[in-house]
Amino acid sequence: MVLSLMRSVLFFSGLGDGAIVSDLKNRYLHDKHYFKAKSDYVRNPISLTGIRTAIDILEKQPSGYIIMDPYGGIMNNISNDSIAFPHRYGNLYTIQYLVEWHQEEKNRSNEYREWIRDFYDAMASHVSWGPRAAYVNYMDFDLGVMELINTSVLSEDTVEMARVWGEKYFLNNYDRLVKAKTLIDPNNVFKNQQGIPPSTTIGLEARTF
Ligand SMILES: *[C@@H]1O[C@H](CO)[C@@H](O)[C@H](O)[C@H]1NC(C)=O
Ligand SMILES: *[C@@H]1O[C@H](CO)[C@@H](O)[C@H](O)[C@H]1NC(C)=O
Ligand SMILES: *[C@@H]1O[C@H](CO)[C@@H](O)[C@H](O)[C@H]1NC(C)=O
Ligand SMILES: *[C@@H]1O[C@H](CO)[C@@H](O)[C@H](O)[C@H]1NC(C)=O
Repeated sequence: MVLSLMRSVLFFSGLGDGAIVSDLKNRYLHDKHYFKAKSDYVRNPISLTGIRTAIDILEKQPSGYIIMDPYGGIMNNISNDSIAFPHRYGNLYTIQYLVEWHQEEKNRSNEYREWIRDFYDAMASHVSWGPRAAYVNYMDFDLGVMELINTSVLSEDTVEMARVWGEKYFLNNYDRLVKAKTLIDPNNVFKNQQGIPPSTTIGLEARTF
C-alpha cells in the first residue's frame, strides 16, 4: 500500500478509517489506549526460518504487529560516528514491534507484554548483535532502567549501568555522549530513566567531544 504523506499521517494517527486531515486538530483522546513497543535493527537479510518464526508469532496475537522502516539509500552514506545517532550506514531496516490494547482489556496487559517479549527473544539470532541495537525513540524499559538519579547518587557505576541501554541506542557514541553530558549538565538536571548520566571522573581538561 502506497500512501501520500498526509494519508500516512492519518493512517498512523489512530483516528481510524475515513478520517480526514481536519480531524487531526481534534487532539482529544476518546478512548484510553495502551501499547508496548520494542525495536531491532537488521543488517543482514533475515533467513526464511527467521521470517517463518516471525509470522508464526504474529499469527498468535491479532493485537500485535510490526513495522519495518527501510534504511539504505542516502542513509547508507552516514557513518556511525558522524552524528550521535549511529544506526544508518550498514542497516537494511528497523523493526518496530508493537502490541496495543484498550482500557477494557487492561486485565490482559501482562499477556500482551509477554507476547511481545517472547517475540523479541525469538528474533535474537536474526537481527543485529554486538550489541543488539535499538531505536531510542521507541524507548524500551525492558533494556534496563535506573532510578531518576540525583547528584548525590551519581558515580561511575551509573555510567556503566546506563551503558547497557546506552550502547544499544548509540553504539560507541555512548562514551562521547557521556562526555557531552558531563560538560553540559554535570549535575544531571535533565534526566529520565534511560538518560545519559554525567561522569564524575572525567577531568575538566578532557571534556571535549
Ligand atoms: C554516497 O557517497 C558516494 C561517495 O561520495 C556517492 O558516490 C553516492 O552517490 C552517495 N550515495 C547517495 C545515496 O547519496
Ligand atoms: C477482563 O475484564 C473484562 C471486562 O472488564 C471481562 O469481561 C473479562 O472476563 C476479564 N478477563 C479476565 C481474563 O479476567
Ligand atoms: C537524592 O538521592 C538520595 C539517596 O537516594 C536521597 O536520600 C535524596 O533524598 C535524593 N534527593 C533528591 C532531591 O531527590
Ligand atoms: C562503527 O562501526 C565500526 C565497525 O563496525 C566500529 O569499529 C566502530 O566502533 C563503530 N563506531 C561507533 C561510534 O559505534
